[in-house]
Amino acid sequence: MSKDAFEIVEEISKKLSQIKIDSVEELEKFRIQFLGSKNELKSLFGEIRNVSNERKKEFGQAVNALKSQAEEIFAEHKFALAANESKKESASIDMTMPPSPNPQGSIHPITIVMDRIIRIFEKIGFTIAEEREIEDDWHNFTAMNTPDDHPARDMQDTFYLQNSTEQLLRTHTSSVQARVMTTQKPPIRIIAPGRVYRNETISARSHCQFHQVEGLFIDKKVSFADMKQTLMYFTKEMYGPDAKIRLRPSYFPFTEPSAEMDVYWGLEDEHAYRITKGTGWLEILGCGMVDPNVLKNCNIDPEEYSGFAFGMGIERQAMLHYRINDIRMLFENDVRFLRQFNSAM
Ligand code: PHE
Repeated sequence: MSKDAFEIVEEISKKLSQIKIDSVEELEKFRIQFLGSKNELKSLFGEIRNVSNERKKEFGQAVNALKSQAEEIFAEHKFALAANESKKESASIDMTMPPSPNPQGSIHPITIVMDRIIRIFEKIGFTIAEEREIEDDWHNFTAMNTPDDHPARDMQDTFYLQNSTEQLLRTHTSSVQARVMTTQKPPIRIIAPGRVYRNETISARSHCQFHQVEGLFIDKKVSFADMKQTLMYFTKEMYGPDAKIRLRPSYFPFTEPSAEMDVYWGLEDEHAYRITKGTGWLEILGCGMVDPNVLKNCNIDPEEYSGFAFGMGIERQAMLHYRINDIRMLFENDVRFLRQFNSAM
């Protein structure tokens, strides 16, 4: 009888070696048949009593070998089938499909407007001068012909650094004029974009931080007409060939004569009416011929050189262009607001 038991082992082994598994279903059938709780190999354990004592060990080993063989077959096919599946999947990837778009950030409206202004002046040979926001009293005021007791200091409420009467947050980008003139020789042709600070009550129309672009041109025989032409060129580039400007006499300690420049915005709709206060004109910058005292303070000979300077506010121009009614929106960094500015101006 022992021969029969070994014969059964032989039969199953043969069956195993001839097995074909081509699908997940067949693999599952195989698992139930040879590795499941009621598998074929289990019936062999009953055969052990028909095996002679001296061959019992040999029989046990043969049955164990069968079990390992079945396990190996199962593992092998499982692996092969899985590999096949993923191959099928990758074959179904459409390489011609357009990629899904990555979310893109947007450029802040202040940056858009500032970049545009910079590009306009770069075209006529101005270079960028960037300077510190924490400034000293001399560069912000004294050099700019605004000594201690000068009433014009009241025009700009200043943030001083704690316990300091010297260090302050610059109140205008005109401080860059002093920085440049004390370190460069004329001819000088720079624009200085940047952030400035004034101790003002925050409202829909004003903020304690805002941006300016300063311009400075120093050379021999620079005239008021040169300034006017430069500002005219800027306005037409910025607001179109039909744009109109007007210069109104004004006062700044560091320029003489001084002016404020308005751009004609029209009165076509309510928005225009409101922001121009019913005049159609909107002030965008202060300007003038650099005061000889400023040149002297910066060691430039006013007999030899003259120049003009201007400083323009950025927020108002951005608000105009994008019809933003409240300046605070520009500093709150609400992404729902910022996301709207995804193209160049
Ligand atoms: N600094 C002035 C301001 O902030 C603007 C200005 C700059 C005026 C240069 C004249 C010349 O208001």
